[in-house]
Amino acid sequence: MDIILLGPPGAGKGTQAGRLEDEHGMVQLSTGDMLRAAVKAGTEVGLKAKALMDAGELVPDEVVSGIIGDKLDELGPDQGVIFDGYPRTAAQAASLDEILAERNRVLSYVIELAVDEDALVERITGRFTCGKCGAGYHDTFKQPAVAGVCDVCGSTEFKRRPDDNEETVRTRMQEYRAKTAPILPIYEARGIVRKVDGMGSMAEVNDAIEAVLSL
Ligand code: AP5
Repeated sequence: MDIILLGPPGAGKGTQAGRLEDEHGMVQLSTGDMLRAAVKAGTEVGLKAKALMDAGELVPDEVVSGIIGDKLDELGPDQGVIFDGYPRTAAQAASLDEILAERNRVLSYVIELAVDEDALVERITGRFTCGKCGAGYHDTFKQPAVAGVCDVCGSTEFKRRPDDNEETVRTRMQEYRAKTAPILPIYEARGIVRKVDGMGSMAEVNDAIEAVLSL
């Protein structure tokens, strides 16, 4: 099963994709994570993307669609995937249709995480991750069990994303409203959008997504 998790910055796409990977053996394809890896590695894609990401603006469509196609080719045909942060524009949605059709894959659901934007700035500016294994935490909502020590790998190094400051978050929200939210009707017309309340606890949101997938 291939699904899209759609929602504004901080809606919980990455959090829920991680849970679906653990529970269903699906693979998360996060264009944000791929671009951050490219920036870190100093590749040509990373060099193009860095300034745009730091400003909260979208990276060109052909760049992200190219990396999604390449990633899918690394997976087996029966491997279910979760698209996290892709597609984000009408052009990307059209590219995804082609990418899936060329590989005989079918999009089962677009899960829209419905959230209150005011809460998202708090979610994003409080977010941090383990510098070693990448496990995600939050100042208020998900502290490590032992302060300063990663629950998963025991590392004491943590990091924050450079684009997780209030000013950049506002630009990311504007980009979402202007370019990403307008793609929902494309999928609504196909009858595959399922709206989930993203304002519950992480477990409640996960339960709501599970209910959709088990239908
Ligand atoms: P990307 O990395 O995709 O960032 P984003 O869409 O802004 O999404 P986030 O990762 O900020 O949020 P999320 O919804 O995954 O939330 P999370 O689960 O972490 O993109 C970054 C940049 O890359 C873009 O600005 C753009 O420049 C570029 N880019 C990426 N894809 C692109 C594309 N397709 N086209 C063009 N450019 C692209 O949760 C957030 C926090 O809240 C966490 O701390 C978490 O612990 C907490 N939390 C989660 N759920 C809950 C809950 N239910 N209750 C309380 N806290 C919660």
